[in-house]
Amino acid sequence: MRTSSFLVIIVVVFLYAISSPATGCGERIGNQLWSTTIDKGWEPIGNINDKHIQELGSWAVLEFIKHVNCVLKFNKVVSGRQQLVSGMNYELIINASDFGGKDGKYKAEVYEQKWTSKRELLSFTKVN
Ligand SMILES: *[C@@H]1O[C@H](CO)[C@@H](O)[C@H](O)[C@H]1NC(C)=O
Repeated sequence: MRTSSFLVIIVVVFLYAISSPATGCGERIGNQLWSTTIDKGWEPIGNINDKHIQELGSWAVLEFIKHVNCVLKFNKVVSGRQQLVSGMNYELIINASDFGGKDGKYKAEVYEQKWTSKRELLSFTKVN
């Protein structure tokens, strides 16, 4: 009896371990702050291949996977917009691949104050 209940626990833990990487990437962290209908002060990011923008996207993915049980590999920032505040707000659309190698689009909201080296991932969510 003891052996069998121990086995059940092992199986449950195992199933949890293999199933969560797949579901984890669909999770959202944070609440989306910036509505797409309110465009005040927002401008499209002109040069999406800018090193800083790409690095910011890569950073956002790393921050995201710190908070969720999921494997996600950054590919590139494909588009985005920015808003000058006391620092800069960024809304980045990121192409990234999950554990199974399946790629998808994700939206990250990032706040950065360059002169204080402050960065915050405000939200991260899968988009379709
Ligand atoms: C992500 O990027 C890859 C490689 O550039 C591309 O083949 C794929 O279609 C992109 N996926 C999405 C969802 O944009």
